[in-house]
Amino acid sequence: MDTVIEVKDVKRDYITTKGWFLRKKKTLTAVDGINFCVNRGEIFGLLGENGAGKTTTIKMLITLLAPTAGVCKVLGFDTYKEADKIRGEINFVFGGEMGVYRRLSARDNLLYFAGLYKIKGKEAKKRTEELLKLVELEDAADRLVETYSKGMIQRLQIARGLINNPKIVFMDEPTVGLDPIGANMLRDIIRKLKEEGRTVLLTTHYMQEADELCDRIAIINKGKMIAMDTPENLKKSYGEKGMDSTLEQVFLALVKKEGV
Ligand SMILES: Nc1ncnc2c1ncn2[C@@H]1O[C@H](COP(=O)(O)OP(=O)(O)OP(=O)(O)O)[C@@H](O)[C@H]1O
Ligand SMILES: [Mg+2]
Repeated sequence: MDTVIEVKDVKRDYITTKGWFLRKKKTLTAVDGINFCVNRGEIFGLLGENGAGKTTTIKMLITLLAPTAGVCKVLGFDTYKEADKIRGEINFVFGGEMGVYRRLSARDNLLYFAGLYKIKGKEAKKRTEELLKLVELEDAADRLVETYSKGMIQRLQIARGLINNPKIVFMDEPTVGLDPIGANMLRDIIRKLKEEGRTVLLTTHYMQEADELCDRIAIINKGKMIAMDTPENLKKSYGEKGMDSTLEQVFLALVKKEGV
């Protein structure tokens, strides 16, 4: 099988300063020696409570943050030393954060981001129209983004995250702010990406969503990996004996146990 993401003994510290004169330095270990691999075409879920280290892990994988120790590889390249070789081949969708320009229309945003990936002319226009259709924003495409609802902005961010036909899409809470119809649309898009042989790594706080979508799930707690398997196997291994446990029950049991 083709491994497209490799995370080996990865650790990430944040140095924070404390006190009035910024003299006291404190080290916070956000990611504490995690290991996992993701295969091509997989939908891989990263679950964990608030502050577990999910976004930090994604930021290292998308070349925005260097690991303090260990190695992250994407498509065989080191995300720290060979970032340039990775950036054109991947993309990301972050929930709730503003990754598009408010003073531009959706169409102009997508044409602008296409330009950043050196997609030009007819090809840029074609890709933009395809994506506007995919996220159902054709009718609002020429309105300024500042007039959009939260869900419309999130749909535009999803389109932006697909503009370069990425081989791997990293999605950090991508359904935040979406209504049930929008969330369903995104899940369909994720399944379609998989059908096309693309890989998706996603985080979500919705256990039902993770259960429904993910081929495999890793659960991290306080920066450490505490379980990794298919949703079915996680439920079998960690659920209550003889009961049909949900992923949410398994998650709560695992995180609470590790948290004491
Ligand atoms: N820039 C930063 N400086 C200092 N500490 C940070 C920084 N970013 C994150 N942290 C800390 O690192 C830890 C992990 O944060 P991270 O954002 O990776 O968690 P998360 O799993 O994505 O949580 P959430 O579900 O709330 O998004 C937290 O304790 C957080 O406070
Ligand atoms: Mg996060």
